[in-house]
Amino acid sequence: KFEPVSQNERTKGVKYLVDGTPNLVSLPLLYALPSPKCPKPATDASIPVIDLSGLNGSDDQKRSLTIKEIGSACEEWGFFQVKNHGVKISLMEEMVKAVEEFFNLPLEEKNKYASNDVMDPVRYGTGLNTPAKHTPACCKEILGGGAISESLGLSKDYIERSLGQGCQIVANNYYPPCPEPDRTLGISPHSDHGGLTILMQNDVDGLQIKHGEDWVAVRYVPSTFVVNLGDYLEILSNGKYKSVEHRGVVNKEKTRISIAVGHGPELTATVAPAPPLISDNRAQFKPIMYKDYMKIQQSSVVRGKTPLEAIL
Ligand code: SIN
Ligand code: FE2
Repeated sequence: KFEPVSQNERTKGVKYLVDGTPNLVSLPLLYALPSPKCPKPATDASIPVIDLSGLNGSDDQKRSLTIKEIGSACEEWGFFQVKNHGVKISLMEEMVKAVEEFFNLPLEEKNKYASNDVMDPVRYGTGLNTPAKHTPACCKEILGGGAISESLGLSKDYIERSLGQGCQIVANNYYPPCPEPDRTLGISPHSDHGGLTILMQNDVDGLQIKHGEDWVAVRYVPSTFVVNLGDYLEILSNGKYKSVEHRGVVNKEKTRISIAVGHGPELTATVAPAPPLISDNRAQFKPIMYKDYMKIQQSSVVRGKTPLEAIL
């Protein structure tokens, strides 16, 4: 049995707690969720795995098929996995290792980056948005939104141009083993605010996404990235594509590490439906400056998808 931890203990992070308590058999109360919020077993389904090599070659038919596949995944799931993305597997492994090394640093070292301010360029905390050592040079076609622009019937550079200089956020997540994984979550349900998020992970499952009314587990597929659409693209697509809620569950045995790289527009960009996608003058969202949207999103207590509702 374990005494409830104080708020002060909490700021030290779950890893500190787990490392310092070899016989941790129950979940400290502070981390226990009310039962309706606890994760039930997830539905088993697989999200589309898309082979990106089709985007680079000279085979036009293969290219348009791949774009169609991406479009359907964006509409149906808001999530997909990509293989043959052009990033070296050894680089992916090094990145995960670098994150592990960072989290293994003494608390005092990590706390040099402690901050709650979303606008800080580097910050360490027990929630979202922690610092990175590298950024992957992931498949340009996907990041620039080329394939996604085309799948929406927009010009190939539409999304890329709309991003302006762009803004990148890297969140490195470390989820230690948990004695009672059914009573808590590694990361609460939320949707991402940006354009696309590219996620890399070690070989431990934990990501779950909302599909209809169900939570679906995303199975780890070696050497792939998980790609998902954020609110910016749901808005730009005028609701055709969905920014899907997701969460992270934990497990009893293994530490899970994930690196989420979010690519969004520059902070002063206007977030609004693309005019060519507004038919009969029915824009589903009101225009807002990205910076202001991010603030609403980051400050909302109940994450989920409530921030989008604010601009309906
Ligand atoms: C996130 O949504 O930022 C992280 C998800 C994960 O760890 O898989
Ligand atoms: Fe996320």
